[in-house]
Amino acid sequence: MEDSSKIPVHVSIIMDGNGRWAKERGKERFYGHIEGVESVRACTEEAARKGVRYLSLFAFSEENWNRPDEEVRSLMELMVKAMTNELPTFLKNGIRFIVLGNRERLGDALNARIDDCMRRTENQTGLTLIVFMSYSGRWDILQAAKRLALEASADPSRASEIGNMTLTDFSLYMVTSGIPDPDLIIRTSGELRLSNYLLWQGAYSELYFTDVLWPDFRKEEFDLALAEYAKRDRRYGKVK
Ligand code: IPE
Ligand code: IPE
Ligand code: MG
Repeated sequence: MEDSSKIPVHVSIIMDGNGRWAKERGKERFYGHIEGVESVRACTEEAARKGVRYLSLFAFSEENWNRPDEEVRSLMELMVKAMTNELPTFLKNGIRFIVLGNRERLGDALNARIDDCMRRTENQTGLTLIVFMSYSGRWDILQAAKRLALEASADPSRASEIGNMTLTDFSLYMVTSGIPDPDLIIRTSGELRLSNYLLWQGAYSELYFTDVLWPDFRKEEFDLALAEYAKRDRRYGKVK
């Protein structure tokens, strides 16, 4: 029997290495993105089975807009397709689906699909699956600060309340408001960086890096990451 106190509440994954996976097989980068969707399915299933409450996935960064148009377009199309295909599974398995990021950049068609998928799963009480799209950590902090500044200028009587804000109060302005910070952040493909992901929310996350490329990251790999997490000693600056 597993010790449920050692199961992270929120696991987040920087899904990296699709292009290299395809290249190793002499195929186009896109082939790796398609195969990566299978890993999303496998990890979602395993996370739910293990009792993880939140699984978040970094699918497309603000910086990824700088990739060639064709890759961006095909990634967006893949996103629509995957969402459409997976919706029945979400409904069947009680999965709540959420997309977070700079939604303004996604376009009307994709946003309509996202809204539909989010609305139809919003009352489900199983695993919450969060996909970060057109997201970056610095953008998130900036949009929070801008919204706060707008509120302050609209209502000067709130000046002292805002002056006394705590870190918890400020967290409510991040796009992840209401979602616990990730306990574990996994990055695949051997890159040892955060690439501007969850800079605020990941302040005390345990980090797990693996050389495995995202399309090869399935159930067994997910379990290995959880096993490693279970061995970590989270001290939060204190002495134990
Ligand atoms: C991750 O795989 C998927 C996205 C960032 C959209 P990459 O496309 O970054 O694959 P590599 O890193 O080039 O192998
Ligand atoms: C990070 O991967 C973004 C996502 C996984 C969505 P990248 O492949 O874009 O990161 P860098 O460019 O290697 O830092
Ligand atoms: Mg990459």
